[in-house]
Amino acid sequence: MSAGDRRVFIKTYGCQMNVYDSERMADALAPGGWRAVDSAEDADLVVLNTCHIREKAAEKVYSDIGRLREISQARSAEGGRLTIGVAGCVAQAEGAEIARRAPLVDFVVGPQAYHRLPQLVAQVGARGAAGGAALVETEFAPEEKFARLGARAARGPAAFLTVQEGCDKFCAFCVVPYTRGAEISRPVERVLAEARALLEAGVVEITLLGQNVNAYHGEGPGGPWGLARLIRALAAEGVGRIRYTTSHPNDMDDDLIAAHGDAPALMPYLHLPVQSGSDRVLRAMNRRHTAEGYLAIIAKVRAARPDIAISGDFIVGFPGETEAEFEETMALASAVRHAHAYSFKYSERPGTPAADAPGQVPEAVKAERLARLQALLAADQARFNAACVGRETEVLLERPGRLPGQLVGRSPWLQSVHLDAPASLMGRAARVLLASAGPNSLAGALVGPQAAPRA
Ligand code: SAH
Ligand code: SF4
Ligand code: F3S
Repeated sequence: MSAGDRRVFIKTYGCQMNVYDSERMADALAPGGWRAVDSAEDADLVVLNTCHIREKAAEKVYSDIGRLREISQARSAEGGRLTIGVAGCVAQAEGAEIARRAPLVDFVVGPQAYHRLPQLVAQVGARGAAGGAALVETEFAPEEKFARLGARAARGPAAFLTVQEGCDKFCAFCVVPYTRGAEISRPVERVLAEARALLEAGVVEITLLGQNVNAYHGEGPGGPWGLARLIRALAAEGVGRIRYTTSHPNDMDDDLIAAHGDAPALMPYLHLPVQSGSDRVLRAMNRRHTAEGYLAIIAKVRAARPDIAISGDFIVGFPGETEAEFEETMALASAVRHAHAYSFKYSERPGTPAADAPGQVPEAVKAERLARLQALLAADQARFNAACVGRETEVLLERPGRLPGQLVGRSPWLQSVHLDAPASLMGRAARVLLASAGPNSLAGALVGPQAAPRA
Protein backbone atom coordinates (compact mmCIF):
# COMPACT_ATOMS: atom_id res chain seq x y z
CA MET A 1 0.00 0.00 0.00
CA SER A 2 1.54 3.30 -1.05
CA ALA A 3 0.83 6.72 0.40
CA GLY A 4 -1.89 8.22 -1.77
CA ASP A 5 -3.71 4.91 -1.91
CA ARG A 6 -5.08 4.75 1.59
CA ARG A 7 -8.78 4.25 1.96
CA VAL A 8 -10.98 5.44 4.80
CA PHE A 9 -14.60 4.55 5.49
CA ILE A 10 -16.33 6.98 7.85
CA LYS A 11 -19.70 5.83 9.14
CA THR A 12 -21.94 8.56 10.51
CA TYR A 13 -24.58 8.09 13.20
CA GLY A 14 -26.80 10.76 14.78
CA CYS A 15 -27.38 14.37 13.88
CA GLN A 16 -26.32 16.75 11.10
CA MET A 17 -23.44 18.01 13.25
CA ASN A 18 -21.98 14.53 12.98
CA VAL A 19 -22.51 14.57 9.21
CA TYR A 20 -20.55 17.82 9.12
CA ASP A 21 -17.85 16.42 11.41
CA SER A 22 -17.48 13.31 9.24
CA GLU A 23 -16.90 15.48 6.18
CA ARG A 24 -14.34 17.51 8.10
CA MET A 25 -12.59 14.32 9.23
CA ALA A 26 -12.30 13.30 5.58
CA ASP A 27 -10.98 16.81 4.80
CA ALA A 28 -8.42 16.47 7.61
CA LEU A 29 -7.22 13.07 6.34
CA ALA A 30 -7.13 13.97 2.63
CA PRO A 31 -3.70 15.71 2.64
CA GLY A 32 -2.24 12.45 4.06
CA GLY A 33 -3.37 10.57 0.96
CA TRP A 34 -6.60 9.17 2.41
CA ARG A 35 -9.43 8.65 -0.05
CA ALA A 36 -13.00 8.16 1.22
CA VAL A 37 -14.75 4.90 0.29
CA ASP A 38 -18.31 3.65 0.86
CA SER A 39 -17.81 0.43 2.79
CA ALA A 40 -15.67 -1.09 5.51
CA GLU A 41 -14.76 -4.01 3.19
CA ASP A 42 -12.85 -1.60 0.94
CA ALA A 43 -11.15 0.35 3.73
CA ASP A 44 -7.81 0.40 5.53
CA LEU A 45 -9.22 2.71 8.20
CA VAL A 46 -12.75 2.69 9.59
CA VAL A 47 -13.95 5.60 11.70
CA LEU A 48 -17.31 5.23 13.44
CA ASN A 49 -18.63 8.73 14.13
CA THR A 50 -21.08 7.90 16.87
CA CYS A 51 -24.19 9.25 18.60
CA HIS A 52 -25.03 8.94 22.30
CA ILE A 53 -28.45 10.62 22.31
CA ARG A 54 -30.54 7.47 22.89
CA GLU A 55 -29.55 4.04 24.16
CA LYS A 56 -30.24 2.32 20.84
CA ALA A 57 -27.93 4.66 18.95
CA ALA A 58 -25.11 4.12 21.43
CA GLU A 59 -25.50 0.33 21.50
CA LYS A 60 -25.52 0.07 17.72
CA VAL A 61 -21.87 1.09 17.73
CA TYR A 62 -20.85 -2.04 19.62
CA SER A 63 -22.72 -4.36 17.27
CA ASP A 64 -21.12 -2.57 14.32
CA ILE A 65 -17.65 -3.02 15.84
CA GLY A 66 -18.49 -6.71 16.27
CA ARG A 67 -19.24 -6.92 12.56
CA LEU A 68 -15.85 -5.39 11.73
CA ARG A 69 -14.09 -8.29 13.45
CA GLU A 70 -14.34 -10.56 10.41
CA ILE A 71 -12.97 -7.92 8.06
CA SER A 72 -10.17 -7.21 10.48
CA GLN A 73 -9.26 -10.91 10.75
CA ALA A 74 -9.32 -11.38 6.98
CA ARG A 75 -7.08 -8.33 6.59
CA SER A 76 -4.58 -9.70 9.16
CA ALA A 77 -4.54 -13.08 7.37
CA GLU A 78 -3.44 -11.22 4.22
CA GLY A 79 -0.65 -9.57 6.21
CA GLY A 80 -2.48 -6.23 6.25
CA ARG A 81 -4.21 -4.34 9.00
CA LEU A 82 -7.60 -2.71 9.49
CA THR A 83 -7.39 0.32 11.78
CA ILE A 84 -10.56 1.08 13.71
CA GLY A 85 -11.36 4.37 15.41
CA VAL A 86 -14.41 5.49 17.37
CA ALA A 87 -15.23 9.20 17.14
CA GLY A 88 -18.20 11.34 18.11
CA CYS A 89 -20.43 11.48 21.15
CA VAL A 90 -20.07 7.87 22.37
CA ALA A 91 -16.31 8.38 22.19
CA GLN A 92 -16.65 11.46 24.40
CA ALA A 93 -19.08 9.86 26.84
CA GLU A 94 -17.35 6.51 27.25
CA GLY A 95 -13.69 7.20 26.42
CA ALA A 96 -11.37 4.34 27.37
CA GLU A 97 -14.38 2.20 28.38
CA ILE A 98 -14.98 1.61 24.66
CA ALA A 99 -11.61 -0.05 24.25
CA ARG A 100 -12.29 -2.24 27.31
CA ARG A 101 -15.59 -3.42 25.80
CA ALA A 102 -14.22 -3.63 22.26
CA PRO A 103 -10.47 -4.45 22.22
CA LEU A 104 -10.49 -4.23 18.41
CA VAL A 105 -10.66 -0.43 18.66
CA ASP A 106 -7.32 1.32 18.01
CA PHE A 107 -8.27 4.84 18.99
CA VAL A 108 -11.06 6.88 20.52
CA VAL A 109 -11.44 10.54 19.57
CA GLY A 110 -14.03 13.00 20.91
CA PRO A 111 -16.02 15.55 18.86
CA GLN A 112 -13.77 18.43 19.94
CA ALA A 113 -10.48 16.65 19.26
CA TYR A 114 -10.82 15.18 15.77
CA HIS A 115 -8.41 17.67 14.21
CA ARG A 116 -5.87 15.26 15.77
CA LEU A 117 -7.13 12.38 13.64
CA PRO A 118 -4.12 12.32 11.25
CA GLN A 119 -1.69 12.12 14.18
CA LEU A 120 -3.71 9.39 15.89
CA VAL A 121 -3.79 7.31 12.71
CA ALA A 122 -0.04 7.81 12.24
CA GLN A 123 0.63 6.76 15.86
CA VAL A 124 -1.43 3.60 15.45
CA GLY A 125 0.35 2.86 12.15
CA ALA A 126 3.78 3.31 13.75
CA ARG A 127 2.97 0.61 16.30
CA GLY A 128 2.64 -1.97 13.53
CA ALA A 129 0.59 -5.14 13.47
CA ALA A 130 1.03 -5.90 17.17
CA GLY A 131 -1.12 -2.90 18.11
CA GLY A 132 -1.43 -1.99 21.78
CA ALA A 133 -3.85 -0.25 24.10
CA ALA A 134 -6.25 2.11 22.34
CA LEU A 135 -5.21 5.75 22.15
CA VAL A 136 -7.80 8.05 23.73
CA GLU A 137 -8.14 11.74 22.84
CA THR A 138 -11.12 13.52 24.39
CA GLU A 139 -9.89 17.06 25.05
CA PHE A 140 -12.35 19.95 24.77
CA ALA A 141 -10.86 22.67 22.58
CA PRO A 142 -13.59 23.49 20.06
CA GLU A 143 -12.39 26.60 18.26
CA GLU A 144 -8.89 25.19 18.02
CA LYS A 145 -10.39 22.23 16.16
CA PHE A 146 -12.03 24.41 13.51
CA ALA A 147 -8.93 26.55 13.13
CA ARG A 148 -6.80 23.48 12.47
CA LEU A 149 -8.98 21.63 10.00
CA GLY A 150 -7.80 21.58 6.39
CA ALA A 151 -9.43 23.10 3.31
CA ARG A 152 -13.18 22.66 3.04
CA ALA A 153 -14.30 20.39 0.20
CA ALA A 154 -17.84 20.55 -1.18
CA ARG A 155 -19.78 17.35 -1.81
CA GLY A 156 -22.85 18.60 -3.66
CA PRO A 157 -24.99 21.70 -4.11
CA ALA A 158 -26.21 21.69 -0.49
CA ALA A 159 -23.75 21.84 2.38
CA PHE A 160 -23.71 21.93 6.17
CA LEU A 161 -21.69 24.54 8.02
CA THR A 162 -21.29 24.30 11.80
CA VAL A 163 -21.36 27.78 13.34
CA GLN A 164 -22.12 26.97 16.97
CA GLU A 165 -21.35 23.97 19.12
CA GLY A 166 -22.15 22.62 22.53
CA CYS A 167 -24.95 23.44 24.90
CA ASP A 168 -25.35 25.13 28.29
CA LYS A 169 -29.05 24.35 28.70
CA PHE A 170 -28.90 20.98 30.43
CA CYS A 171 -32.34 19.62 29.62
CA ALA A 172 -32.82 16.85 32.17
CA PHE A 173 -32.92 14.05 29.57
CA CYS A 174 -30.05 15.10 27.31
CA VAL A 175 -26.40 14.07 26.98
CA VAL A 176 -25.35 16.83 24.58
CA PRO A 177 -23.97 19.27 27.19
CA TYR A 178 -21.71 16.44 28.40
CA THR A 179 -20.64 15.07 25.01
CA ARG A 180 -20.24 18.34 23.14
CA GLY A 181 -19.26 20.62 26.00
CA ALA A 182 -20.06 24.25 26.69
CA GLU A 183 -21.73 26.43 24.10
CA ILE A 184 -19.34 28.25 21.74
CA SER A 185 -19.86 30.25 18.55
CA ARG A 186 -17.34 30.42 15.72
CA PRO A 187 -16.17 33.93 14.81
CA VAL A 188 -18.11 35.60 11.96
CA GLU A 189 -15.08 35.91 9.68
CA ARG A 190 -14.30 32.18 9.89
CA VAL A 191 -17.88 31.31 9.04
CA LEU A 192 -17.92 33.71 6.09
CA ALA A 193 -14.59 32.35 4.82
CA GLU A 194 -15.88 28.78 4.93
CA ALA A 195 -19.09 29.85 3.17
CA ARG A 196 -17.07 31.57 0.42
CA ALA A 197 -15.06 28.39 -0.14
CA LEU A 198 -18.32 26.46 -0.46
CA LEU A 199 -19.76 28.99 -2.90
CA GLU A 200 -16.64 28.76 -5.04
CA ALA A 201 -17.06 25.00 -5.11
CA GLY A 202 -20.58 25.41 -6.52
CA VAL A 203 -22.65 25.15 -3.35
CA VAL A 204 -26.09 26.78 -3.66
CA GLU A 205 -27.61 26.05 -0.25
CA ILE A 206 -25.99 26.22 3.19
CA THR A 207 -27.54 24.87 6.39
CA LEU A 208 -26.03 26.54 9.43
CA LEU A 209 -25.61 24.03 12.23
CA GLY A 210 -25.43 24.09 15.99
CA GLN A 211 -26.94 22.17 18.89
CA ASN A 212 -28.48 25.56 19.73
CA VAL A 213 -27.79 27.39 16.52
CA ASN A 214 -30.10 30.31 17.28
CA ALA A 215 -28.03 31.06 20.40
CA TYR A 216 -25.23 31.98 17.95
CA HIS A 217 -23.24 34.99 19.17
CA GLY A 218 -19.99 34.86 17.22
CA GLU A 219 -17.44 37.67 17.41
CA GLY A 220 -17.76 39.91 14.38
CA PRO A 221 -17.05 43.47 13.32
CA GLY A 222 -18.44 45.69 16.10
CA GLY A 223 -18.90 42.91 18.67
CA PRO A 224 -20.90 39.69 18.86
CA TRP A 225 -23.38 39.01 16.05
CA GLY A 226 -26.69 37.19 16.40
CA LEU A 227 -27.80 34.50 13.97
CA ALA A 228 -30.09 36.83 11.98
CA ARG A 229 -27.19 39.19 11.27
CA LEU A 230 -25.01 36.27 10.19
CA ILE A 231 -27.77 35.03 7.88
CA ARG A 232 -28.11 38.46 6.27
CA ALA A 233 -24.33 38.65 5.76
CA LEU A 234 -24.29 35.21 4.14
CA ALA A 235 -27.11 36.26 1.81
CA ALA A 236 -25.07 39.34 0.88
CA GLU A 237 -22.11 37.03 0.07
CA GLY A 238 -24.35 35.31 -2.47
CA VAL A 239 -25.64 32.24 -0.62
CA GLY A 240 -28.93 31.67 -2.44
CA ARG A 241 -30.60 29.34 0.04
CA ILE A 242 -29.96 29.41 3.78
CA ARG A 243 -31.31 27.16 6.54
CA TYR A 244 -30.39 26.66 10.18
CA THR A 245 -30.88 23.89 12.70
CA THR A 246 -31.44 23.11 15.61
CA SER A 247 -33.02 25.91 17.54
CA HIS A 248 -34.26 26.31 21.10
CA PRO A 249 -37.51 28.25 21.69
CA ASN A 250 -35.85 30.52 24.27
CA ASP A 251 -33.30 31.81 21.73
CA MET A 252 -35.85 32.61 19.03
CA ASP A 253 -35.31 36.40 19.07
CA ASP A 254 -37.32 39.03 17.18
CA ASP A 255 -34.53 39.74 14.68
CA LEU A 256 -34.42 36.09 13.65
CA ILE A 257 -38.20 35.94 13.37
CA ALA A 258 -38.13 39.12 11.25
CA ALA A 259 -35.46 37.58 8.99
CA HIS A 260 -37.98 34.89 8.03
CA GLY A 261 -40.09 37.68 6.58
CA ASP A 262 -37.46 39.95 5.05
CA ALA A 263 -34.49 37.77 4.01
CA PRO A 264 -35.52 36.01 0.78
CA ALA A 265 -32.53 33.63 0.95
CA LEU A 266 -33.76 32.27 4.29
CA MET A 267 -35.82 29.20 3.42
CA PRO A 268 -39.35 28.93 4.85
CA TYR A 269 -38.55 26.11 7.25
CA LEU A 270 -38.05 26.15 11.00
CA HIS A 271 -37.03 23.20 13.14
CA LEU A 272 -38.05 24.21 16.64
CA PRO A 273 -38.25 21.32 19.11
CA VAL A 274 -40.87 21.60 21.86
CA GLN A 275 -40.47 18.11 23.45
CA SER A 276 -43.79 18.19 25.36
CA GLY A 277 -47.08 20.05 25.50
CA SER A 278 -47.36 19.80 29.28
CA ASP A 279 -45.97 22.66 31.38
CA ARG A 280 -45.42 20.31 34.31
CA VAL A 281 -43.34 17.97 32.13
CA LEU A 282 -41.51 20.89 30.48
CA ARG A 283 -40.54 22.12 33.96
CA ALA A 284 -39.33 18.66 34.95
CA MET A 285 -37.36 18.55 31.68
CA ASN A 286 -35.72 21.88 32.63
CA ARG A 287 -36.80 23.31 29.27
CA ARG A 288 -37.52 26.81 30.68
CA HIS A 289 -40.38 27.48 28.26
CA THR A 290 -44.10 26.75 28.41
CA ALA A 291 -46.44 25.27 25.84
CA GLU A 292 -48.15 28.64 25.47
CA GLY A 293 -44.77 30.37 25.02
CA TYR A 294 -43.94 27.93 22.23
CA LEU A 295 -47.28 28.54 20.49
CA ALA A 296 -46.74 32.30 20.75
CA ILE A 297 -43.39 31.96 18.95
CA ILE A 298 -44.95 29.84 16.21
CA ALA A 299 -47.68 32.46 15.76
CA LYS A 300 -45.07 35.24 15.39
CA VAL A 301 -43.01 33.22 12.92
CA ARG A 302 -46.12 32.47 10.87
CA ALA A 303 -47.06 36.15 10.90
CA ALA A 304 -43.62 36.95 9.45
CA ARG A 305 -43.70 34.10 6.90
CA PRO A 306 -47.19 32.63 6.43
CA ASP A 307 -46.13 29.62 4.34
CA ILE A 308 -43.35 28.50 6.72
CA ALA A 309 -42.97 24.77 7.35
CA ILE A 310 -42.73 24.09 11.07
CA SER A 311 -40.75 21.08 12.22
CA GLY A 312 -39.98 19.87 15.71
CA ASP A 313 -38.96 17.16 18.15
CA PHE A 314 -41.08 15.41 20.77
CA ILE A 315 -40.25 13.05 23.61
CA VAL A 316 -43.01 10.79 24.95
CA GLY A 317 -42.88 8.96 28.25
CA PHE A 318 -40.57 11.31 30.11
CA PRO A 319 -40.41 10.12 33.77
CA GLY A 320 -43.69 10.92 35.52
CA GLU A 321 -45.60 11.76 32.31
CA THR A 322 -49.28 10.94 32.91
CA GLU A 323 -51.88 10.08 30.29
CA ALA A 324 -53.40 13.56 30.75
CA GLU A 325 -50.00 15.19 30.27
CA PHE A 326 -49.41 13.18 27.13
CA GLU A 327 -52.82 14.38 25.88
CA GLU A 328 -51.51 17.94 26.29
CA THR A 329 -48.69 17.03 23.90
CA MET A 330 -51.25 15.71 21.41
CA ALA A 331 -53.21 18.96 21.80
CA LEU A 332 -50.11 21.07 21.18
CA ALA A 333 -49.21 19.08 18.09
CA SER A 334 -52.78 19.50 16.80
CA ALA A 335 -52.57 23.23 17.39
CA VAL A 336 -49.26 23.62 15.54
CA ARG A 337 -49.90 21.24 12.64
CA HIS A 338 -46.24 20.53 11.89
CA ALA A 339 -45.08 20.10 8.32
CA HIS A 340 -42.71 17.47 9.66
CA ALA A 341 -41.54 16.33 13.10
CA TYR A 342 -39.38 13.79 14.88
CA SER A 343 -40.72 11.97 17.92
CA PHE A 344 -38.98 9.62 20.30
CA LYS A 345 -39.63 7.41 23.29
CA TYR A 346 -37.78 8.78 26.29
CA SER A 347 -34.50 6.92 26.62
CA GLU A 348 -32.71 6.84 29.96
CA ARG A 349 -29.20 8.23 29.55
CA PRO A 350 -26.55 7.55 32.21
CA GLY A 351 -25.33 10.70 33.94
CA THR A 352 -28.37 12.85 33.08
CA PRO A 353 -30.67 14.05 35.92
CA ALA A 354 -33.80 12.37 34.50
CA ALA A 355 -32.17 8.94 34.54
CA ASP A 356 -32.60 8.79 38.33
CA ALA A 357 -36.03 10.44 38.40
CA PRO A 358 -38.94 8.52 39.89
CA GLY A 359 -41.89 7.42 37.75
CA GLN A 360 -40.06 5.87 34.79
CA VAL A 361 -42.80 5.07 32.29
CA PRO A 362 -43.17 1.40 31.20
CA GLU A 363 -41.91 0.61 27.70
CA ALA A 364 -45.35 -0.53 26.48
CA VAL A 365 -46.95 2.76 27.54
CA LYS A 366 -44.23 4.76 25.78
CA ALA A 367 -44.68 2.69 22.62
CA GLU A 368 -48.44 3.18 22.63
CA ARG A 369 -48.13 6.97 23.15
CA LEU A 370 -45.49 7.23 20.45
CA ALA A 371 -47.72 5.41 17.97
CA ARG A 372 -50.60 7.81 18.68
CA LEU A 373 -48.41 10.89 18.35
CA GLN A 374 -46.74 9.62 15.18
CA ALA A 375 -50.12 8.92 13.56
CA LEU A 376 -51.11 12.52 14.23
CA LEU A 377 -47.80 13.92 12.98
CA ALA A 378 -47.91 11.77 9.84
CA ALA A 379 -51.41 13.03 9.03
CA ASP A 380 -50.25 16.64 9.50
CA GLN A 381 -47.25 16.03 7.25
CA ALA A 382 -49.44 14.51 4.54
CA ARG A 383 -51.81 17.48 4.85
CA PHE A 384 -48.93 19.96 4.51
CA ASN A 385 -47.57 18.14 1.46
CA ALA A 386 -50.99 17.97 -0.18
CA ALA A 387 -51.46 21.72 0.34
CA CYS A 388 -48.29 22.35 -1.70
CA VAL A 389 -49.71 20.73 -4.83
CA GLY A 390 -50.27 23.31 -7.57
CA ARG A 391 -47.53 25.65 -6.31
CA GLU A 392 -44.71 26.66 -8.62
CA THR A 393 -41.44 26.84 -6.75
CA GLU A 394 -37.66 26.34 -6.86
CA VAL A 395 -36.29 22.87 -6.29
CA LEU A 396 -32.57 22.40 -5.70
CA LEU A 397 -31.70 19.26 -7.67
CA GLU A 398 -29.29 17.23 -5.55
CA ARG A 399 -29.09 13.65 -6.81
CA PRO A 400 -30.29 11.15 -9.42
CA GLY A 401 -33.70 9.62 -8.81
CA ARG A 402 -34.57 5.93 -8.73
CA LEU A 403 -35.85 5.90 -12.31
CA PRO A 404 -33.72 6.77 -15.35
CA GLY A 405 -34.10 10.42 -16.38
CA GLN A 406 -35.24 11.40 -12.88
CA LEU A 407 -33.61 13.83 -10.47
CA VAL A 408 -34.46 14.39 -6.81
CA GLY A 409 -34.20 17.70 -5.04
CA ARG A 410 -35.47 19.74 -2.12
CA SER A 411 -38.27 22.27 -2.11
CA PRO A 412 -37.92 25.45 -0.05
CA TRP A 413 -39.98 23.60 2.61
CA LEU A 414 -37.36 20.81 2.68
CA GLN A 415 -39.60 18.23 1.03
CA SER A 416 -38.05 15.72 -1.36
CA VAL A 417 -39.30 16.37 -4.90
CA HIS A 418 -38.91 13.84 -7.75
CA LEU A 419 -39.09 14.97 -11.34
CA ASP A 420 -38.01 14.16 -14.88
CA ALA A 421 -35.11 16.46 -15.68
CA PRO A 422 -31.94 16.39 -17.77
CA ALA A 423 -28.79 15.48 -15.85
CA SER A 424 -27.38 18.89 -16.88
CA LEU A 425 -29.68 20.49 -14.27
CA MET A 426 -28.04 18.55 -11.43
CA GLY A 427 -26.78 20.85 -8.71
CA ARG A 428 -29.05 23.70 -9.76
CA ALA A 429 -32.24 25.29 -8.52
CA ALA A 430 -34.95 24.63 -11.11
CA ARG A 431 -38.44 26.11 -11.53
CA VAL A 432 -40.84 23.31 -10.77
CA LEU A 433 -44.59 22.86 -10.58
CA LEU A 434 -45.49 20.60 -7.64
CA ALA A 435 -47.87 18.16 -9.27
CA SER A 436 -48.74 15.53 -6.67
CA ALA A 437 -47.97 14.65 -3.07
CA GLY A 438 -47.32 11.48 -1.13
CA PRO A 439 -46.82 11.18 2.64
CA ASN A 440 -43.04 11.65 2.43
CA SER A 441 -42.32 13.34 -0.87
CA LEU A 442 -43.76 15.18 -3.87
CA ALA A 443 -43.61 14.76 -7.60
CA GLY A 444 -43.04 17.78 -9.82
CA ALA A 445 -42.51 18.91 -13.39
CA LEU A 446 -40.09 21.45 -14.84
CA VAL A 447 -41.80 24.67 -15.94
CA GLY A 448 -40.75 27.43 -18.32
CA PRO A 449 -37.21 27.99 -19.58
CA GLN A 450 -34.60 27.08 -16.98
CA ALA A 451 -31.85 29.58 -16.19
CA ALA A 452 -28.55 28.91 -17.92
CA PRO A 453 -25.95 27.01 -15.91
CA ARG A 454 -23.50 29.23 -14.06
CA ALA A 455 -20.10 29.59 -15.69
N1 SAH B 1 -30.50 20.89 20.62
C1 SAH B 1 -31.72 20.37 20.21
C2 SAH B 1 -31.83 18.86 20.20
C3 SAH B 1 -30.68 17.97 20.32
S1 SAH B 1 -30.99 16.27 20.49
C4 SAH B 1 -32.80 20.94 21.09
O1 SAH B 1 -32.56 21.65 22.01
O2 SAH B 1 -33.95 20.66 20.87
C5 SAH B 1 -32.24 15.94 19.29
C6 SAH B 1 -33.49 15.43 19.87
O3 SAH B 1 -33.32 14.16 20.47
C7 SAH B 1 -34.08 16.28 20.99
O4 SAH B 1 -34.76 17.39 20.53
C8 SAH B 1 -34.95 15.32 21.72
O5 SAH B 1 -36.26 15.32 21.18
C9 SAH B 1 -34.30 13.97 21.46
N2 SAH B 1 -33.68 13.45 22.67
C10 SAH B 1 -32.64 13.97 23.35
N3 SAH B 1 -32.37 13.21 24.44
C11 SAH B 1 -33.26 12.20 24.43
C12 SAH B 1 -33.52 11.10 25.31
N4 SAH B 1 -32.80 10.91 26.42
N5 SAH B 1 -34.53 10.26 24.98
C13 SAH B 1 -35.28 10.46 23.88
N6 SAH B 1 -35.08 11.48 23.03
C14 SAH B 1 -34.10 12.34 23.31
FE1 SF4 C 1 -29.99 18.82 24.66
FE2 SF4 C 1 -31.62 20.64 25.69
FE3 SF4 C 1 -29.19 21.35 24.89
FE4 SF4 C 1 -31.05 20.68 23.11
S1 SF4 C 1 -31.11 22.44 24.52
S2 SF4 C 1 -28.92 20.01 23.13
S3 SF4 C 1 -32.17 19.08 24.14
S4 SF4 C 1 -29.65 19.98 26.58
FE1 F3S D 1 -26.01 12.37 18.79
FE2 F3S D 1 -24.00 13.83 19.56
FE3 F3S D 1 -25.59 14.70 17.65
S1 F3S D 1 -25.26 12.61 20.86
S2 F3S D 1 -27.53 13.81 18.21
S3 F3S D 1 -24.29 12.94 17.56
S4 F3S D 1 -24.64 15.93 19.24
